[in-house]
Amino acid sequence: MIVKRKNMFFLSGKGFSYVIRISGEGYILHDYFGAQISPEPYCEEGRGWYCFQAAGEDGVCVDELRTEYPCYGHTDLGTPALMADRQPVLKYRSYEIISGKPAPKGLPSAVADGAETLVITAEDELLGVEVRLYYSVYTGEGALCRRTEITNLADAPLTLGAAYSASLAFSGSDYEEMHFAGSWGRERRPAFNTLTQGVYHIGNARGGSGHQINPFVIIKERGADEEHGDCYGFMLVYSGDHATEIEVDQRGRTRVHQGINPFGFRKTLVKGETFTSPECVLAYGCGLGSLSRAYHDFIRDKICRGEWSRRERPILINNWEATYMDFDEEKLMSIASLAAELGIELFVLDDGWFGKRDNDRRSLGDWVVNKSKIPSGIGGLAEKVNALGLKFGLWFEPEMVSPDSDLYRAHPDWAVRAQRSPALIRSQLVLDLTRPEVRKYVINAVCSMLDSANIEYVKWDMNRYITDMPREGFNYEYTLGLYEVMEAVTSSHPNVLFEGCSGGGGRFDAGILCYMPQIWTSDDTDPLERLYIQYGTSFGYPPLAMGSHVTESPNQHTGRRNSMDTRGAVSMSCNFGYELDITKLGMEDREEIKRQTALCRELRGLVAFGDFYRLLDPFSGNTGGWMSVEKDKSRAFVFVMRALFRPNSAPLRLRLKGLDPEARYRAGEAEYRGDMLMNRGIDIVFPFGDGASVRIMLKRI
Ligand code: DGJ
Repeated sequence: MIVKRKNMFFLSGKGFSYVIRISGEGYILHDYFGAQISPEPYCEEGRGWYCFQAAGEDGVCVDELRTEYPCYGHTDLGTPALMADRQPVLKYRSYEIISGKPAPKGLPSAVADGAETLVITAEDELLGVEVRLYYSVYTGEGALCRRTEITNLADAPLTLGAAYSASLAFSGSDYEEMHFAGSWGRERRPAFNTLTQGVYHIGNARGGSGHQINPFVIIKERGADEEHGDCYGFMLVYSGDHATEIEVDQRGRTRVHQGINPFGFRKTLVKGETFTSPECVLAYGCGLGSLSRAYHDFIRDKICRGEWSRRERPILINNWEATYMDFDEEKLMSIASLAAELGIELFVLDDGWFGKRDNDRRSLGDWVVNKSKIPSGIGGLAEKVNALGLKFGLWFEPEMVSPDSDLYRAHPDWAVRAQRSPALIRSQLVLDLTRPEVRKYVINAVCSMLDSANIEYVKWDMNRYITDMPREGFNYEYTLGLYEVMEAVTSSHPNVLFEGCSGGGGRFDAGILCYMPQIWTSDDTDPLERLYIQYGTSFGYPPLAMGSHVTESPNQHTGRRNSMDTRGAVSMSCNFGYELDITKLGMEDREEIKRQTALCRELRGLVAFGDFYRLLDPFSGNTGGWMSVEKDKSRAFVFVMRALFRPNSAPLRLRLKGLDPEARYRAGEAEYRGDMLMNRGIDIVFPFGDGASVRIMLKRI
């Protein structure tokens, strides 16, 4: 709901309000963001006492205000949301309330369905700069979308160096910042800063959103935990260079900007031209748990789109860790036939099926099947797999080219390069998606393969960052090119389930989720590592967005041994699959896979569309765990895991969350009341050994 009362705008969604005030001088001020409040009666704004006050031509010191979109200079010396070669002083001009939500041109964004949008236009008449601030809310959602448009109204060009999507000014400074850091194989580990006076820059400039820093940041009241305290999320709907900049100022207030990373960014606007920022999804939660659930609902309802966004995902088997590139049709079919017997529903052919791709030094870009490996071709193989009752899926890495490929030999200039010969990573180069002819080639290569066979799933990989920047602003232009390609491919194949991937979880962001409703979470499939990775990822993203596979033991990345049971339980907490040579397994493991696939079919709707609660933080102890609760509280699935076995230790008393306190629940033979499970808790005795896990299925009686 959006209402205007005098000089105030009140925006609200599920459980939150956001209030903007226009000052007498025309500044657009942030007044409030937090738990839902009523618009009337509302209080006046307090002004502090300040020494050595600067005064602009209107007598105001903007540095003392909390503006919605700060610019640098004149009387504001804080970190700016907008930095340009003409620094405007923005004053309110007009507003508009629109039913729906205008889409940012060329960029992914939350859907318009059910939205209401406030557009505030501000201007610096003297310098000819216009800024439009977009705010969209949805009645049933606990999140708000913000973005910004900047237009040059003057004859002289306007060059932007920083143009963040959104800015928020908190009145206090008693906050902690939480972001999600890591590396390949260790993605999205919670990292913290206790904020004190100074500037914090949390971001990546790698051409992709990155394994290292995810474009999702939480600002939380100091001491806030899963259940308590004000928590604010900032999630960027963007897959390129991103930054969140936080400043705690001299007066004890906290400014946060999120958007495209200004490092390496530059955009020059000619007269009448507009820059459109990516969208930023802000959310409020009392406690981290409720903040996460607001994002989970929002991503499922408004970010992911298409047929698959509301569908349970098929149990897949992927041949990557089973065969790597060393396979032939017979080997693939032996895996697929057994998979069908064990209850698996989708067979995915990973890297190595095209050109002369027997190793990672060649053939990216040559999207033509290698008939010496697959004589039936992709169409023939898909038919054979379909005849077993399985769907067929295929891997691509469309953004790349190997120097040893026909594509590169024909078009060496299509690879991204700066002044010197470009750096190789994994022996490959990035295709320059800023060029229309390159985009056309990539769209055509992927689409014609999809149109030639019954391919019902695509894994879209991207295994290197951009290291050679031909010009300032290149990574931004690349990201726009990528989105054009993804839009063309996914919108023309609405029935295909797309899974994003980037050397594991290197491009796990809400931008990709607008095109592909699930993303490969990490190449690290060790269940203990996955406990950390999936726990960290869950702060912003729902289980339905994450892929998780059972792989072999000892794990190929860590050497750790884990039971089939634990590997299954961790993976079943997300979109479930297998990635090992099942033909080498004994009867016992095969029987276990049959049990797991049957259980997954029973559970996956709950895991996908239920409410997610974190129960135990693996980063601060020896155990970790979570649970999913059906929206109507009729069922729940609890998963807990102990990292290291400690002899002579007491059972774990585990308090559950989110159940109906009045209801009775059955778990196996036992019956419990919801209030008992949530207040007293249940005693967990872990099986013997490291990495042991326990799962509990609860059903309301
Ligand atoms: C990286 C991905 O994360 C893996 O799952 C696999 O698809 C390889 N690339 C293939 O090259």
